[in-house]
Amino acid sequence: MQTKELRILVYEYSGLDDLPEADQKLILSAREASDKAYAPYSRFRVGAAIRLADGTIVPGNNQENAASPVGLCAERVALFSANAGHSETAVEAVAVTAFAETGLVEQPVKPCGSCRQALMEAEVRFGQPIRIILDGKQKIQVFEGIESLLPFAFKPESLG
Ligand code: THU
Repeated sequence: MQTKELRILVYEYSGLDDLPEADQKLILSAREASDKAYAPYSRFRVGAAIRLADGTIVPGNNQENAASPVGLCAERVALFSANAGHSETAVEAVAVTAFAETGLVEQPVKPCGSCRQALMEAEVRFGQPIRIILDGKQKIQVFEGIESLLPFAFKPESLG
């Protein structure tokens, strides 16, 4: 038997101003995208923004449905929109934010498991890690790749 320990690095910033300019811009795009969320059921407005390798920013927001499983998270709306419109351009970073009825969430928003899996596919597809920037009022967290949020993932190579 062997025990292995995983090391996960999370970079924490106390506010927007502490981040590199490109990341600040991406968070602001995600916040703006959250304004257009369709979230009449949860009233939890999530915004995401994807930065592509050529600097293009693609927004997304959660799209809910009366038949709840049909809805889609902001991250996948942004990612699939980016992949659909720019199929040859690598995904470099994603920023995610969320607003409850009381305003910006206190703690950095965490992508759901399905969105993590979708981001993993994009990393493998384009062969480069995706910088993940999670917005919150008390702090902003940055992860240098989806592996940090989804270790031991099912990947294309897992198909055998
Ligand atoms: N949601 C997202 O869009 N992204 C997340 O990372 C977490 C949850 C959405 C789904 C649903 O519309 C609402 O937030 C409440 O779960």
